[in-house]
Amino acid sequence: MYLQFALELVPLAKGADNAVREEADNAFREHYRKLREFLIRTNGQAIFAKYKENAYLFDVVCAQYSPEFQANTMGIAGLTLKEPILDIGCGKDANLVRFLRMNGFQAYGIDRSVETTEYTTKANWFEFSLQPNYWGTVFSHMAFSNHFGHHLLRRDGDYRAYMQNFIEILQSLKVGGTFIFSPTIPFLEKAMENDSNFRLVRYEEQTAAIMRLHGVKGK
Ligand SMILES: C[S@@+](CC[C@H](N)C(=O)[O-])C[C@H]1O[C@@H](n2cnc3c(N)ncnc32)[C@H](O)[C@@H]1O
Repeated sequence: MYLQFALELVPLAKGADNAVREEADNAFREHYRKLREFLIRTNGQAIFAKYKENAYLFDVVCAQYSPEFQANTMGIAGLTLKEPILDIGCGKDANLVRFLRMNGFQAYGIDRSVETTEYTTKANWFEFSLQPNYWGTVFSHMAFSNHFGHHLLRRDGDYRAYMQNFIEILQSLKVGGTFIFSPTIPFLEKAMENDSNFRLVRYEEQTAAIMRLHGVKGK
């Protein structure tokens, strides 16, 4: 949809008179109509009711956050962080990973938009191979759980793929290791009740943390 939109704009960008501006306005209006149709088809009308509740929802952007902001949201200060540390969806600049490394932690990040370096890997989280029983702490700030929650709520959401990946993340923790993420995932509290291998050690307004209690043979 975006590619088609961009192709329509290219010829318009070559001129700058009023007629061209009007055509560009029409192209934007038509694009908005298609986007709206797509959102209603995939999420239902409820998504627009939400925007009416709070106009600021229109301004939500896919952003990177400062390490201080991430640490504050996920309540990292004062925690003893087990290593190695993995940040899933670390962002293009891997801000938290670099901050942790500057402070002497063995931290790594993956993101589909980060450059691969000695401590960051450009990868899709569905394709990144997570070694079982390995990570001491896994973080994901405004990334994995945000997308997971979105897929749980949307009509055509691929929540099974996220569920599978979520289980792999939990199994990649070593015993005593913790997965800390923001935002929380709807229904998570209920889902964790019956799993004796993991415990939901924190479930706050913005952040949840799950600790691995036991090793599972072969995993
Ligand atoms: C809102 S940003 C948050 C970045 C960082 N955690 C922060 O708080 O600054 C979400 C990140 O998730 C990444 N992302 C989304 N889907 C992904 C996927 N399937 N695989 C890898 N990264 C993904 C995006 O590239 C983006 O950098």
